Amino acid sequence: MVKNFVLKGDVLFCSEDRKVHTVPDSFVVCADGKCEGVFTELPEKYKGFPLEDHSGKLIIPGMTDLHVHAPQYTYRGLGMDMELLDWLNENAFPEEAHYEDKEYADKAYSIFTEDLKKSFTTRACIFATLHREATEILMDKLEETGLVTYVGKVNMDRNGSPALSEKDAETAAADTRQWLQYIKGRYQRTMPILTPRFIPSCSDELMKELGVIAEEQGLRVQSHLSENPSEIAWVKELVPASKNYGDAYALFNTLGDEEHPAVMAHCVYTDGEELELLKKHHTYIAHCPDSNLNIASGIAPVRKFLDEGVNIGLGSDVAGGASLSLVQAMVHSIQVSKMYWRHVDQDVKPLQFGDAFYMATLGGGSYFGKTGSFLPGYEFDALVIDDSGLRSMRKLTIQERAERMIYLSGECSIKSKYVSGQKII
Ligand code: GUN
Ligand code: FE
Repeated sequence: MVKNFVLKGDVLFCSEDRKVHTVPDSFVVCADGKCEGVFTELPEKYKGFPLEDHSGKLIIPGMTDLHVHAPQYTYRGLGMDMELLDWLNENAFPEEAHYEDKEYADKAYSIFTEDLKKSFTTRACIFATLHREATEILMDKLEETGLVTYVGKVNMDRNGSPALSEKDAETAAADTRQWLQYIKGRYQRTMPILTPRFIPSCSDELMKELGVIAEEQGLRVQSHLSENPSEIAWVKELVPASKNYGDAYALFNTLGDEEHPAVMAHCVYTDGEELELLKKHHTYIAHCPDSNLNIASGIAPVRKFLDEGVNIGLGSDVAGGASLSLVQAMVHSIQVSKMYWRHVDQDVKPLQFGDAFYMATLGGGSYFGKTGSFLPGYEFDALVIDDSGLRSMRKLTIQERAERMIYLSGECSIKSKYVSGQKII
């Protein structure tokens, strides 16, 4: 199918320098799934393309969720009165144990994928559970949505629960290889990613094996890093040779490189040498402010990360985060940065709308290549948003409308959604 068409509306997008661009009443052109640019007058050569007229609506790039747990979706909003390590034992592990049952997985993953399809998200990095078959069910369902995703069968061979643990490193690595073999060539837009849950869940032997598989098969890695003080102290005990938590991943060759960057969720306490290490490995930080608030993890110094030029995007971290909504993640990222400025360091300026919009679109999107902008050559991932329910006595600019849209998203609706030029809503 040749994906050539034009959308007309009020356009807002970021460029690589994090600048926000707004172009009222303009044309965004899609040719063969790629963006040709934004035009105030439609160039002659595109006049034959079908036109979808969304005049008066906002047109923005699709958003990337760099960190979400699919099996935790159906209990989101529950069990928030704990910190990370208790929260895992009391909430996450008992729920994830259910995914041994394929029927349970089928039902629960239908709910997750249906809702993800309707959200602001066009691309995502997703944790499944340790169960190979349930992970395959999730991947089948994601492929059908039209979204583009990385999905990981989780690895965990220590400190789980009797009902949720891989037997040992050897079994875990064999099962992971079998999963990779089974899904090879099955999907166009659903890709595997190695997923050690976090250092406390994975023995040294398993981490070593995963480093070998990553190298052998050219795979990326996703995991958690420096989320919570008790977790960080535990990692120091578990991997005494590591200089810092990030180094514990690097020691096992799981931090990736420019071509195969890892995604590390949280990095609330990342600083100094650990930050330098992430820069060196081109690691992506998934900033998950909703989760960091709910399970009291802390406030990540995102302004510093942006100033240092670290790769960074937003994550929902459902079900540490309660919502899949990346516009809510944008709002939370701005709000927590204000508390960081007020209570932690008054030299670190709070984030503004443009910083959050960048992270939700191009910042996280770049994990998938040229994604998250309407500059020429970018994948045509777009959202058409009806904000007409937000009535105002003022004449608002496009950026002001987008700002209101993120704070009041419940009163707006997504009218259409495109991924690489394919209309999925
Ligand atoms: N660290 C290890 N596992 C998890 C998880 O499921 N959620 C969060 N937020 N942190 C983790
Ligand atoms: Fe997480």
